[in-house]
Amino acid sequence: MAFIKLQELTKTFPHAAKSAVKDFDLEIKKGEIITLLGPSGCGKTTTLRMIAGFEKPTSGEIHFGSETIFKQDYSLPPEKRGIGMVFQDYALFPHLTVVKNVMFGLLKWNNKEKKKRAIEVLELVGLAQYANRYPHELSGGQQQRVALARALAPEPKVILMDEPFSNLDANMREKMRYDVKRILKSTNTTAIIVTHDQKDAFAVSDRVVVMKDGVIEQIDTPMEMYRCPKNCFVAQFLGKTNLLTGKMANDLKHVYTHIGKVCLPTKSEQLIDEVTLSVRPEGCRLVENGKYVAEVEDVIYSGEYQEVTVKINTEQGGKQSIFIHVPIEQQVKKGQVVSFDIKPELVSLVEK
Ligand SMILES: Nc1ncnc2c1ncn2[C@@H]1O[C@H](COP(=O)(O)OP(=O)(O)O)[C@@H](O)[C@H]1O
Ligand SMILES: [Mg+2]
Repeated sequence: MAFIKLQELTKTFPHAAKSAVKDFDLEIKKGEIITLLGPSGCGKTTTLRMIAGFEKPTSGEIHFGSETIFKQDYSLPPEKRGIGMVFQDYALFPHLTVVKNVMFGLLKWNNKEKKKRAIEVLELVGLAQYANRYPHELSGGQQQRVALARALAPEPKVILMDEPFSNLDANMREKMRYDVKRILKSTNTTAIIVTHDQKDAFAVSDRVVVMKDGVIEQIDTPMEMYRCPKNCFVAQFLGKTNLLTGKMANDLKHVYTHIGKVCLPTKSEQLIDEVTLSVRPEGCRLVENGKYVAEVEDVIYSGEYQEVTVKINTEQGGKQSIFIHVPIEQQVKKGQVVSFDIKPELVSLVEK
């Protein structure tokens, strides 16, 4: 049985032309970290709020194991759902010390037990030495770990986090992704995290749910999702990619595109006439005597690699831009004529 099961969860706000979330289906295992990923307004927060009980679904069902949390005409109140919430702005009580903030959620316990448990979770998040400080005496990352400790203290069935990394600077953000994952995994805590940032999603999750306009586009592990995006939207949302259209060859292993023949990673199961390919920039490699010849149009240095745009003359007499990641040690200049190959493993067939 699924630890958490969301069934055809739908929310249509009054007077809205379209549903904010439509037929959301998901089964989550105990201890799994799931992220809801998608552009602003796609329904991530609404989904999270329905699970928490802050928003009443228009239809659908929510089950925690064998317990029904929500169905038509029945809704378990938020405080009885066993949920730990971490808000984007952390929502710590400014007038309470760190330890008192963490003790706050432990309603049924006596004071001594509350303190013992609070110190225990503060140790887990590496903040026991800050127990008597006030929130304003902590950095953003530390405040977030207090918020996480407070949510974890009552041992909730699931932790819900809405855009937990968006108020942090780049370095702290990277560290917190790692810390949050480590803390959740060490306690085998099930979590649903909302983010619009692909790097957040990939770094912390076991599985990612990509959403668009209230609808699930794809559910997969980060690696599967990146290598085999289902459609153009998912492919483009997960980072830069080159979309090429073409006709499949009879061998089912190649596609004739505007820039020439491109090899697929595996043989297609069926002959599809018109296809779209997603070719990742890191799947293109500048080499001598490569299969595709192009002229360098632009070079941007990103630190980790060079983002190079090249132009290829198409067989139809037009031009096609291709985006390539080039290692920093390789010399490339604007106007230079180069040639490249495409690694089939980083090519995928996508739906329109
Ligand atoms: N309380 C509300 N009343 C009316 N519309 C809402 C309300 N909350 C959210 N929406 C709408 O629902 C859609 C999804 O919003 P939201 O879940 O906040 O998206 P996300 O978190 O992915 O940015 C948006 O079109 C938004 O304007
Ligand atoms: Mg949101």
